Amino acid sequence: MNLANRIESIGESVTLKLNAKAVQLADEGKKIYNLTAGQLPFRPPKEFVEGIRGELDFLGSFQYSPVAGDVKLREKILDYFQLSRAVNLEDVDCEFATIVGNGGKHVISNIFAALINPGDEVVLITPYWVSYPEMISVYGGETKLVETTIFDAFVPSLEKIEEALSKNTKAIVINSPNNPSGNHYSEEWMKDFAALMKRYPDVFIISDEIYFELSYFDPAPTYFYQNDSSLLERTIVIDGISKNLASTGLRIGYAIARKEIIQAMSKLQSHTASGSCSLIQKALLKFDMSQIKEYLTPIKNHLRDNSLIVREKFREAKLDKCWYQTHSAFYYMVDFSQCPVMDRFKSSDEDNTDYSPQLCEELLEKFGVAMVPGSAFGTPNCARISLVLPKDSFDEAMTRIMDFLIG
Ligand SMILES: Cc1ncc(COP(=O)(O)O)c(C=O)c1O
Repeated sequence: MNLANRIESIGESVTLKLNAKAVQLADEGKKIYNLTAGQLPFRPPKEFVEGIRGELDFLGSFQYSPVAGDVKLREKILDYFQLSRAVNLEDVDCEFATIVGNGGKHVISNIFAALINPGDEVVLITPYWVSYPEMISVYGGETKLVETTIFDAFVPSLEKIEEALSKNTKAIVINSPNNPSGNHYSEEWMKDFAALMKRYPDVFIISDEIYFELSYFDPAPTYFYQNDSSLLERTIVIDGISKNLASTGLRIGYAIARKEIIQAMSKLQSHTASGSCSLIQKALLKFDMSQIKEYLTPIKNHLRDNSLIVREKFREAKLDKCWYQTHSAFYYMVDFSQCPVMDRFKSSDEDNTDYSPQLCEELLEKFGVAMVPGSAFGTPNCARISLVLPKDSFDEAMTRIMDFLIG
């Protein structure tokens, strides 16, 4: 069939393939530990759910919302952003606005659409969120990668970032807290990054902060623009309710940026998607955002406990060298390349092939544990596990992973 070339360039999802296999094995009666989840398996706060119920009686909840989102909700989002990040947008020399889209993913796609011209380069840090490179390529952009390793807990060096910047760089994406590494960058790193970006005034900074509220070890995430708020003039911040209100299916995400960028995104959204769900926007407008912290406290305790199980398992298996401490979001990256299991896959020391899909397939078939191969995140011979499973099941799954890693 003669389909558009841009579709040809989109990669197949390895995750879907593995998930299908996990479902098939479970159907056959095998005990499967599915560690591929990209969402919290908890109900949203009850006040928010009640708010949704309460809005069902109004006609407006079923009708179009303004394209960029309910006007009052947009004001509330700007207030929440300033309060939670301790910034004052009035201190910055431009006007800001926000746009509500159908989830963070939709908003990010609109940002790339609004910024990228064919041939423009966008700098991504590995491991990256799976959809960034695909979106960049759909809009004709080129991805420039900055690699990290487990030895620096997947935090990028600023020297490497600077090497990746060129006269063709349109934007750089920072995702802190990070999916899939489960880490956020330190305050010092953010300070140095701010200083670096001051030297590249033409580069937009896309700050994906969707996991901002989900850090379970102090210090909490901070951002480069807190050191120099003038950087906000060319920063686009992304957030939403998928992760902090455990509401991935409600599809609400938003971006905050200078007015001209939001207007461009809004123009596009008016012809491609219209405003996002009126019902959920109205319920969110009534929801007290200061409750997010309290709602997330037991969830963050759970994530912290599971992150400590990861540490214990690596210690018990005497694989401490292959371990790093996570602090945020709800993931951990297993690095196979540092573990004995790798010897069975590599043909020689010089073999740099990415065996992560095969490693994950064998782990699933023989040990019943599903993880997402590092190939999806630009990190060869690694795999992402999700920390959300109940403690007992998570402990069992980690024991199986260790048996695989040492074998
Ligand atoms: C880093 C990152 N950014 C954005 C998103 C998109 O979230 P949403 O579900 O709101 O589209 C995700 C979802 O997994 C994510 O992990």
